[in-house]
Amino acid sequence: MVKQQNWKVQFPTVNRSFESTTGILYNSNNIDLLKKFPDKSIDLVVTSPPYDNLRTYNKNIDKIWNFDIFKQLAIQLSRVLKVGGIIVWVVGDATIDGSETGTSFRQALYFKDVCNLNIHDTMIYEKAGFSNPSSNRYHQIFEYMFIFSKGKPKTFNPIIDRKNRYSGSTSWGKNTARKVNGELSERKDRNIISDYGQRYNIWKYANGKGFGQKDDIAYQHPATFPEQLAYDHIISWSNKHDIVLDPFMGSGTTAKQCILTDRYWIGIEINVEYCEIIQKRLQKYKLFL
Ligand SMILES: C[S@@+](CC[C@H](N)C(=O)[O-])C[C@H]1O[C@@H](n2cnc3c(N)ncnc32)[C@H](O)[C@@H]1O
Repeated sequence: MVKQQNWKVQFPTVNRSFESTTGILYNSNNIDLLKKFPDKSIDLVVTSPPYDNLRTYNKNIDKIWNFDIFKQLAIQLSRVLKVGGIIVWVVGDATIDGSETGTSFRQALYFKDVCNLNIHDTMIYEKAGFSNPSSNRYHQIFEYMFIFSKGKPKTFNPIIDRKNRYSGSTSWGKNTARKVNGELSERKDRNIISDYGQRYNIWKYANGKGFGQKDDIAYQHPATFPEQLAYDHIISWSNKHDIVLDPFMGSGTTAKQCILTDRYWIGIEINVEYCEIIQKRLQKYKLFL
């Protein structure tokens, strides 16, 4: 990684829980802290907010996460994002009184209609299984991965790992054409379909104990997203030395994948115990350049 010693100077010095040459962890409420960030300073956000307060990360979570609070956060995230930057927003809905809440859609439309971001894509994170069986509907096995962009995305490095069923032939089927007399002849001027094509926008990952995370300590956090999910988005929507933010840092999954892919990372986590987990988790990776 090229040393860019000065990359951090533009970000606040308050509430730094720990820092290294590759990143900064803040122990803070994300909205309060983001208000101190300069405009257009972040290349990519990869994050997952609390889902309709499905989990209580600390005793006061219901007081600190609701739609009004979301709106303040969305405005700050949109402000600090560079033009062409991306927000990956991994989210799902709770079912309350027999109905899904629709919070995910409400949030997506707020980013679009009020924050002026594009809903560049609505991707799906398909899980290998379900945690709560449903008795009167199909089992729920996915979450949304909204991709919001500030204008046209400045970076897209598509992952090419989908095996092409017709590899070796052409997009017209067999690489042949009919001659004037009706006979078939081989054609050499058509593109042959390669072995692998661009991935589709439904991504499947195993999560849960022993699957999503490689570091045991990460399981001390109750709601992580898979390491591979963070990795895949980081390489798709950013380049080396870009600055990647996770305002709900949890166990530090995004930070770890930034270190492994040579991106600078900024994490914000409100819970001091989770900050300790993050610090311990990251110690074994290359924290210093
Ligand atoms: C869904 S978890 C994120 C997990 C993370 N993606 C991972 O893989 O470890 C959400 C995290 O956001 C934190 N959080 C909730 N409200 C916050 C706030 N206002 N500011 C900063 N962090 C907050 C919670 O303590 C929790 O650790």
